Amino acid sequence: MTRRVIPLALFLSLLFVLQAFAQVDPGVRGGAAGAGAALASVAANNPVTILNFFNDAKARFTEIDSVSGTVAGEDGFGLGPRYNSRSCVACHAQPAVGGSAPAVNPQVADATADGARNTVPSFITSTGPVREARFPFFFDQFGFPDTNRPNGGVEDLYTIVGRVDAPASCTSASGTGIPQPGFTAAINTGNIIFRIPTPTFGSGLMENIDDSTLLVNFNNQQNNNVGVGGTFNHNGNDGTISRFGWKAQNKSLEIFAGEAYNVEMGVSNELFTQERPLPGEDQNLGNTGLPAACRVNPTPEDHTNFNTTAIGTLSDTVQFAMFMRFLAPPTPSTTVPGGATSIANGRSLFNAIGCAVCHTASLTTSPSRFTPSLGNATANLFSDIEIHHMGTGLNDNVSQGGAGGDQFRTAPLWGLGQRIFFLHDGRTKNLVTAILAHDSSGSEANAVENNYDLLSASQKQDVLNFLRSL
Ligand code: HEC
Ligand code: HEC
Repeated sequence: MTRRVIPLALFLSLLFVLQAFAQVDPGVRGGAAGAGAALASVAANNPVTILNFFNDAKARFTEIDSVSGTVAGEDGFGLGPRYNSRSCVACHAQPAVGGSAPAVNPQVADATADGARNTVPSFITSTGPVREARFPFFFDQFGFPDTNRPNGGVEDLYTIVGRVDAPASCTSASGTGIPQPGFTAAINTGNIIFRIPTPTFGSGLMENIDDSTLLVNFNNQQNNNVGVGGTFNHNGNDGTISRFGWKAQNKSLEIFAGEAYNVEMGVSNELFTQERPLPGEDQNLGNTGLPAACRVNPTPEDHTNFNTTAIGTLSDTVQFAMFMRFLAPPTPSTTVPGGATSIANGRSLFNAIGCAVCHTASLTTSPSRFTPSLGNATANLFSDIEIHHMGTGLNDNVSQGGAGGDQFRTAPLWGLGQRIFFLHDGRTKNLVTAILAHDSSGSEANAVENNYDLLSASQKQDVLNFLRSL
């Protein structure tokens, strides 16, 4: 057998190529879903019957809604008149119920489900992320964005026009129904931004971190030598720190659940009692709100039930919040990808170059009356729950509460290893791109991102392996 010898020059250039491109995102970590189970004490049924509540809540989170609640396999009731999808799990599915956007976008099928007659907007594709759309500004009389009139509300993709169970006034071909928002005009004038679903694993722990714990962590970050500032978003009504959503715009899981039920699925409920018009239908001079043609009265569609079992008494909204609250945080891998040594190196580099100034590795929760696992627990969330200026490259021109256009909550990184899409608008599936996007004019993360750039190829690979182990 002859030994083949690679010429030295070729060998060196191969080595160079490998070096230059060595650091690659290992991709979605395979194996079993490291998330989706109940917290340990909930699984152990402590306190007694809590597991029944979790299981019932999960069934509700998974249920598909129709307008009438009588379509086979779609037992939920109250869909529309406008919607983005038809169940919570449709958007919160990867890698398990409660997670983030799945590999196949359900919003393509949602457009025409049960006879609906919607056009799929160009930014929705079957292999792209689940998206909700917002128009940063209202349009002026000539059809251009009016930068003096901020909008920023969600423009639901679809209407129930044409559905087998929609009101007759809504289904007639002559079109007394309600139109979809003007997505083409918004795209042509650059007046549209997107948000993808955030995962809800471990969110009960996040909800249960006391404001004082967050403030101590904030104080500890001061005088960092990488130029990171930061502040908190606050709930306008009680003044406490809010924490859920891409801009930490929402105070609690129950408020988020009520809002999502109304905004994403069109189901009015005890927290958001009216059917939701588009921002332009409610907030523009001379307009008269949601057109009547497709409305289904009476409201609220979801509410406390007065005459059934203990679990059955609860509204869907309360149970959605209970399900998310009782979801265990994701379980990281200690060896995959890249092996234990590389992951451990990556973790120390992540700290050393300053990523962890914003992505705080862990915070401790307060005692909880719900169930033992929620109390005095270490939440390995990799977030400070603060909002940071992220620069022109990530700015979406939408203000929510105290968060301005370029301010975003430090994205919690637990569960990152099994996520498919990254950043608030889902612009990339590649971790490297997500890291590079931290660097743009005005970003608090510029110095840290530059530190990352200065790492050797194998050090960068360690950081990526560490992130995909989460
Ligand atoms: C059409 C897709 C879609 C559907 C359906 C949907 N969501 Fe979401 N969800 C999102 C998006 C997008 C976000 C991020 C919103 C933002 O912050 O701008 C989100 C964020 C959340 C969050 C915040 C988690 C965190 O820590 O940031 C919670 C809680 C949540 N959704 C609960 C629900 C519940 C409960 C339902 C069902 C009633 C639901 N969602 C249905 C798309 C969806
Ligand atoms: C100034 C605070 C800050 C620093 C420093 C920082 N990040 Fe982030 N990170 C954020 C914010 C805020 C987001 C969400 C940005 C968005 O989606 O627009 C984010 C998002 C991410 C995401 C995408 C997560 C998701 O849910 O899509 C990854 C991955 C990430 N950061 C890794 C890193 C790494 C690695 C470093 C160090 C090189 C780092 N970050 C440094 C604040 C920071």
